[in-house]
This record gives sequence, C-alpha cells and structure tokens, in this order.
Amino acid sequence: MAASTKLPVLKGIGGMDSDDVAVAGGKKAGRWGFVQFFFALAIVLCVLLYAPRVLVISPYGYSIDVGLFAPTTTSSSSVPLQQRVSGGGNAGGDGGRVREVVLDNEVHSPCSSMRDHTICCDRSSVHTDVCFMSGDVRTDAATLSLLLFPPHQHRHDQARNGTSEEERVRPYPRKWESFIMDKVPEVRLRVVAPRRPEEHRCDVRHDAPLLVMSAGGYTGNLFHAFNDGFLPSWVTVQHLRRRVVLGVLSYNPWWAGMFSEVISGLSDHHVVDLLHDTRTHCFPGAIVGTRYHGILIVDPARLRDNKTIVDFHQMLADAYEKPPPRETTTTTVQQQQDQQRRPRLGIVSRKGTRVIENQAAVARLASSVGFDVDILETADGRPLSAWYASLRACDALVGVHGADLTKFLFLRPGRASLTQIAPLGVSPIAQEDFGVPAARMGLAYEQYEVRAAESSLARKYAADDAVVADPEKAMRDKGWDLVARIYLGGQNVTLDLARFRRTLARMHAHSGALGRGGDGRPRQLRAAGRLAG
Ligand SMILES: *[C@@H]1O[C@H](CO)[C@@H](O)[C@H](O)[C@H]1NC(C)=O
Ligand SMILES: *[C@@H]1O[C@H](CO)[C@@H](O)[C@H](O)[C@H]1NC(C)=O
Ligand SMILES: *[C@@H]1O[C@H](CO)[C@@H](O)[C@H](O)[C@H]1NC(C)=O
Repeated sequence: MAASTKLPVLKGIGGMDSDDVAVAGGKKAGRWGFVQFFFALAIVLCVLLYAPRVLVISPYGYSIDVGLFAPTTTSSSSVPLQQRVSGGGNAGGDGGRVREVVLDNEVHSPCSSMRDHTICCDRSSVHTDVCFMSGDVRTDAATLSLLLFPPHQHRHDQARNGTSEEERVRPYPRKWESFIMDKVPEVRLRVVAPRRPEEHRCDVRHDAPLLVMSAGGYTGNLFHAFNDGFLPSWVTVQHLRRRVVLGVLSYNPWWAGMFSEVISGLSDHHVVDLLHDTRTHCFPGAIVGTRYHGILIVDPARLRDNKTIVDFHQMLADAYEKPPPRETTTTTVQQQQDQQRRPRLGIVSRKGTRVIENQAAVARLASSVGFDVDILETADGRPLSAWYASLRACDALVGVHGADLTKFLFLRPGRASLTQIAPLGVSPIAQEDFGVPAARMGLAYEQYEVRAAESSLARKYAADDAVVADPEKAMRDKGWDLVARIYLGGQNVTLDLARFRRTLARMHAHSGALGRGGDGRPRQLRAAGRLAG
C-alpha cells in the first residue's frame, strides 16, 4: 500500500486502447505527420517503460509540445496560505469603473492579502503553482508573457518597496513530476511600465479575467484530461460563474472538439490559443495555473463556497443536458417508470488489454440477476456527449480499471453504483484513482479484486511465481515496469461467475432500493446535489 501513493499516475496505459485518446498528441502532431508522430510516441514509450522509477506512462497522453523557455526555478515568498484575493480593477487602466473580481477562491491562500496591481503566487502545494495578477493585464505572445501595467503612483511605490516584478509558472498540476512539467511551456508574469503608447495597446479587450491552463501534458488520456485539466480548472474558477476567459497552452482542435461541452461549462467566452494567437489580449486580471485537491477530488473545506465534486458533476450534467431534463416536470410519471423498469447496468468493454474474456457470460449473468445490460465499447468513436447520455441512463456501472472509468463522473451521485474490477497488482491504483473519488461523489462503490485464477497471468506464470502468487512482493522487487508492462499492459480477466454474481446482486439490490423505495428518497438525494451547487 505504501507504494500506492505513487502509482496513481500510471493509468496512461489505460488510455492506450481508449478511443478518446487516439487522436491526441498536441499541436505538433499534425505537422509531423502521423508516422513520425507514432514513431516518436514509440520512442517515448520505450524510454518511459525502461526508465527506472519513471512513474508516468501515458503514451497517448504524451504531448510533444516543447517548453519555450529553459526550466527556471522561481523563488518566491513562501508566505503561509491564506484566503481570498481581490483582483480586477479597471480593465483599461484609463480610469474606467472599477469592478471587483475575486480571483482566488481558495481558503487560506497567501494571495488573499494581495493588493490591486500586483502579482501574487501561491507555491505552497506540492502539486501545483498558481499565480494571480490583479489589474491591467495584457498578453505578450512573443515572450509568452502576461504583462501587468500598474498605474503611475503604484509603480513608484513598488520600486521603492522592491516588490517582485517577475514570476514564472508552468500551469500544470504535476509540479512534482519534472518529466512532464518540462514539456509544459513556462509563462512569465511581469510588472512593466509602457515606455511608448503603442506598447500599451489592446487588440482584443476582455471584460472577464483570464485563466491560463494547459491542454497538453497527459491530457490526451481521459483520466488526465479531467484529473489534470478540467477538474483543477473548475476548482480554480467555478466561483467566477463562467465569467472567465480560458487561455490555453498546447491548444489543439482535438481537445477543443472532444471537450467542447466541458469547456463551455467552464467559460462563456471563446478560448484563446496562447501559443499561436499573436494579438494583444487585455484582461482585468489573470490566474495562471490551477489548484489541485487530489485525484479527481474536490475538497470543499478548501473552497470559500464549500463546493464539492457533486457540483462538478452538476456542471457536467448542465453542459451535456442543454435542454433541461424532463424529470423536473413529470416527476410522478418518471417515478412510476423508475419503479417498473429493470435497473440498467453498463459494462465498460475494453479492447486489447484488461479485457473481460468472458464478457458475454457476465452480461447474461447480469441479465439473469435482473439488469438491463448495456455493453459500452470504449473504442466505439462516440462523442463524450453520447457517453454522458449512456451513463446517465445507467443505475450501475461495471468496468475493469482503466482511463475510461473516469466517466464515473457522469453517473448520478447518490443514485448509481460503480464496481471496479481490479486485476492482479492493480488494486491500490484502482482504489486511489476511481474508488475513493467515486465514493466521495456519492456513488455506491465496490471493488472486485481479481484472484490469481481469474487472471490471464495464471496461464503465463507458474502458480508459485510471485507475479501471480504475491503481486505486492513482485512489485517491490521489479518496480513500475512490472506494473505497466504486465499488470496493466498484459493482463486480461475471466470473472468467476459464482463470485461475481454476488457483486451483481448487491448492485441490483442497491438500485432496487433506490428505484423502488417509493419514498421519494432518490429524488431528494438528487435535489440535495443540486442545492449544494
Ligand atoms: C510600499 O510600502 C509602503 C510603506 O511600507 C506601503 O504603505 C505601500 O502600500 C507599499 N506599496 C506597495 C506597492 O507595495
Ligand atoms: C462553508 O462551510 C463553513 C463551515 O461549515 C460555513 O461556516 C460557511 O458558512 C459555509 N459557506 C458557504 C458559502 O456555504
Ligand atoms: C486480452 O484479450 C485481447 C482481446 O481478446 C487479446 O487481443 C489479448 O492478446 C489478450 N491479452 C492477454 C495477455 O491474454
């Protein structure tokens, strides 16, 4: 278990056979052409697989964006954390009306005491650095900088006080992992004084602050897209209620298309492609980098408005259900239907690795237990909105550990159940990546631990080989390579139907209890989820 704290990032392999990630690869992919691209990926994968102690193996998520600047360690005031920041001020710097925009929603942030026309960085987290700029902020594409133009008097004060004039930050919440951070472009934040009027112009003026985030890193993998991208971004700016402009590094059309609903759930504005847009964009403030609360987790105690992962789910639900769901108007009818229909079970069907070899038998079994069964092929090329609709209709979801289980975020909190099948050697990762977060979102969670006899590895290794007899020992001896190559990359499962029937029966009982209770409880749970938002 001790090892598990470092394992969670391994799920890149899971993305390998997920269609969600098949076309990912960052902006340079197109230029390189596919052959070179996948050749490069192969090299990267090999490097990763054989580099000892490299924790992250995320072939498709790997972005080939290269940072524009050499890595620099930025020293900064490591002031203890604190709460809110007021940013904002007059957008033009020309005496316009001042509109207060609170940039930092984190409780105990050091940037709460931040004054207008300053830069404040919170580097206290091991996961992420996040910087705030309040005042007249303008992009400088040539140097990938955000320039802050304080009014005259301020500049004098600042010069006298020796306030920090420049900060640098790589906006990606895996600060502890230099391998990937080196590929995230570094953004410079500078306090400047315009020497000539033309240095102080706007091509595009925005009335909402900027959030700089990255669509690179491992974002090609669905787990990372949410865990490193959308969830941290939401945690950082949800309090602005979409009055925020996303300035995206490593922007690419695949990302924008695949996640269009989520992006519009975060922001009402067009996305700015920071690396390619050479215009000068002007903002009343900026946030560079995102907060990070844990693996697919929102910690309400750290947010001034106590938001939870259920609120994040609700944002997704609102984004994908553009026309409001009928249930609000036809509650009684809907309730009766709930009582009559069989609960629906989705089975996530992977390809290539971590396949359920007796899936057809499992589906028949689930049907005999009382479920309507929906086989959800991970590589079916459907858009995420279609997945949302499928999962929204599910009372229960079963799947082997892999990036596609990130879609548990689409299940109904307080209502649905998730059973994650953990192949040999994958148990701690499974628990940490999806088990804990799913339970925190209010799903009934169960982890089905595959036994040696159910694993395809039993065909390959002798019964007394540590790989099948004692995965924990095998992992201690052979390290991450074993996990990536054997446990994640080279294992299928054949479920013991007698044992799995008991799991299915529990899931069925759970949905039955909720769906047929007739006391309106499920609806209350759902309503509570909404109200919390
Ligand atoms: C500079 O320091 C003075 C006194 O120490 C303070 O009143 C003023 O607000 C400071 N200004 C800035 C911009 O830091
Ligand atoms: C958040 O929770 C704290 C502690 O329970 C409470 O004092 C505060 O009023 C809550 N804030 C909001 C906005 O609900
Ligand atoms: C797992 O199943 C898939 C699909 O049937 C197959 O292609 C693959 O070779 C299997 N892997 C192992 C390790 O048996």
